[in-house]
Amino acid sequence: MLTDGVSHFVHPDDEMMNFILKRNRPRELYFTSGAQHTKIFVDAIKKINPSFTKKNILEYGCGHGRITRHLNSIFHYSKLTVADVWDEAVNFCGKEFNANTFVVSQENKISSLTEKFDIIISYSVFSHLPPHLFEFTLSELSKILDSNGLFLFTAKGEFHVKKFNLSMENGYHFGRESNKKNETKGRIPDEQYSLMVVTESFVKNLLKKAGLELLYHISSSNLPSKQDLYVVKRA
Ligand SMILES: C[S@@+](CC[C@H](N)C(=O)[O-])C[C@H]1O[C@@H](n2cnc3c(N)ncnc32)[C@H](O)[C@@H]1O
Repeated sequence: MLTDGVSHFVHPDDEMMNFILKRNRPRELYFTSGAQHTKIFVDAIKKINPSFTKKNILEYGCGHGRITRHLNSIFHYSKLTVADVWDEAVNFCGKEFNANTFVVSQENKISSLTEKFDIIISYSVFSHLPPHLFEFTLSELSKILDSNGLFLFTAKGEFHVKKFNLSMENGYHFGRESNKKNETKGRIPDEQYSLMVVTESFVKNLLKKAGLELLYHISSSNLPSKQDLYVVKRA
């Protein structure tokens, strides 16, 4: 697998690792899932731009770098910025992976960055945001996406609709099902971070409001991860 040449130091507070500690071979799972998810982004970008190299990349919602640690060996970016609401995680990624850092808060909106990004990726962040934050965050990221840039994010869809037998009447379901194990241990209140499952039309509607356009959407049933992939650009 693609885990050679990446940092093998995992921060003791890494929630992605701590969440899977009771699973079989957690370290192996942590590294292979990180590499696999990163590759999903790269394959999607190369499908649109096969000669893609050396770009200015933002990883939004980096955590302690499960994905971040694989980015350089796969993307060969020219500049990486990591952002999250968790200052400790952002600072860790900044130091460990030599990235610029941005701690997101109500007072420090990501759109206050003056630069534009060629690529923005976000794994398993929108999968947890309530509708108003989902909409707000799309609109914030739209402002810092280059006019020729690509924004790729994952969201929960079909797989979770079936798993929890959700009705999806309004095009989304926001609930506490996946937070039973309390992934963030109260670091983020449930109202701001729980299980968010969405339909493509729900996402499309919010993308439009944010000045973004859907290039394509791959359902989790066609991906090794249990999350859907959305690839978008500025409208
Ligand atoms: C499930 S973790 C995923 C971490 C990393 N992307 C990965 O796949 O390993 C979700 C991350 O999103 C961050 N987060 C939650 N709400 C956020 C928000 N509104 N803006 C930015 N990051 C957020 C959390 O602090 C957490 O680090």
